[in-house]
Amino acid sequence: MEFSIKSGASGKLRSACVIVGVFTPHKLTDAAKALDEAAQGYLSGILRRGDLAAKVGATLLLHHVPEVASARVLLVSLGKEADFREKQYGEAIKAAVRAAQDTGAADALCCLSEVAPPGRDIGWRVRQAALAASEAAYRFDVYKKQTEQTGKDDKKSRKPGSVLKKLAFCVEAGERPAAEAALQEGQAMAAGASFARDLGNQPGNVCTPAYLAASARTLAKEFGLDCQVLEQKKLEKLGMRALLAVAQGSREPPQFIILRYEGGKSGEKPLVLVGKGITFDSGGISLKPAADMDEMKYDMCGAAAVLGVMRTAATLALPLNLIALIPACENMPDGRATRPGDIVTSLSGQTIEILNTDAEGRLILCDALAYAERFAPEAVIDVATLTGACVVALGHVASGLFTGEEALARELLQAGEDAQDRVWRLPLWDDYQELLKSPFADMTNTGGRYGGAITAACFLSRFAKKYPWAHLDIAGTAWKSGAGKGATGRPVALLAHFLLARAQQQRERGGA
Ligand code: BES
Ligand code: MN
Ligand code: ZN
Repeated sequence: MEFSIKSGASGKLRSACVIVGVFTPHKLTDAAKALDEAAQGYLSGILRRGDLAAKVGATLLLHHVPEVASARVLLVSLGKEADFREKQYGEAIKAAVRAAQDTGAADALCCLSEVAPPGRDIGWRVRQAALAASEAAYRFDVYKKQTEQTGKDDKKSRKPGSVLKKLAFCVEAGERPAAEAALQEGQAMAAGASFARDLGNQPGNVCTPAYLAASARTLAKEFGLDCQVLEQKKLEKLGMRALLAVAQGSREPPQFIILRYEGGKSGEKPLVLVGKGITFDSGGISLKPAADMDEMKYDMCGAAAVLGVMRTAATLALPLNLIALIPACENMPDGRATRPGDIVTSLSGQTIEILNTDAEGRLILCDALAYAERFAPEAVIDVATLTGACVVALGHVASGLFTGEEALARELLQAGEDAQDRVWRLPLWDDYQELLKSPFADMTNTGGRYGGAITAACFLSRFAKKYPWAHLDIAGTAWKSGAGKGATGRPVALLAHFLLARAQQQRERGGA
């Protein structure tokens, strides 16, 4: 989807479909009012008859509205004005894009950014509009060769949602400069999120560790990043035995991806982002049950999000030094696979008794966290679909946030609110560390049934002592199950907002 900014009267600007909002009951927004006045009460008449449902995101499509330049008018319900918040704003835009996609309109003019959730300026509104519109327009249909209705390979019939190509956001003339800048940001974030979604949705037989490495290399070429990939032999030499223990049951060789973006001053400490890249998690010898095991192709969504946000940062030329570290491998059962009870020495030198081979994420991450030390990082944030327990704790709404750094916690919580890609903090208290005691090694890799998201984070914390560190457990937020199954692209928007805020601080410091 191609986005742009326009300003002018909603009735005069020509498009295939003009999108305007209506509050319940029958309160027209300014753009809707302008159309209604031009059409001499045509819209208010329809609303009085009750044809637009009250629910946020309900839509009504009208054709040939008198004295309106656009061929179609799409009315979108915004719910009650008093209840209009960030969530309603995003839902209205997504619903509008979906409805516009069901028409034959190739371009649309969206006037919904004129309505503000309390405290949200035009920059926020445009950024979020681009993110929401792009999320709603996203398709992953590379493997769909036949149309659903006919079952035939029918090139002529239009694929759902394939016509709408251009979306303009209408803003007031005075808001244009801020809106244009925000659109750049929103678009770069949306592209980063779509990139992550594509990687997540690819099946495990395509998106292998080598495929992740190839994607990182392509990204590096396209955006002028530096990419280095460490392979099996090198990992053995380094002593990443925890990562190798996970990879050894698979025919796919492990890949350790290092991607650098240097937008900051040379010599400035980098932020390091670490992404869990398990391209398929069968559980290994501690095999998972069959039901829904297909979803474990998403176990590389941390890696995908980190790659996606590197793309965003490079597109926006953020004045920051960033390093992405992605340990990538498969977790499979095999004659050579790690057995429960095996003990390995991690890169940090600490030994681990692997009681459950399905707790593999922390094993690959602990070596990446130890590796991060060599960059003397400003901070390290790891992103991982780490535990089912986090899904039990927070559901699919918030990602789990773990950190001992108050300032970093505040920044991430704020970025989550701004991005509407939220995190919720869980404790990292030492009391939980006891659950990782092993009779034979420095620690086990599981903490038992209770507090699983926390004990997993506690395990990681033992490898992240040399720098400020935060851990995001995205097991519940990186993908959706059920009817709308697929990768969500979270938490690219969260991380991008975090980086944008850091870049802003950087500029202020530089300018002062
Ligand atoms: N990739 C899974 C976590 C997961 C489970 C994400 C379900 C999303 C949905 C992870 O590798 C895993 O298997 N974790 C185990 C840890 C346990 C064995 C200590 C879990 O959560 O059950
Ligand atoms: Mn697992
Ligand atoms: Zn896993």
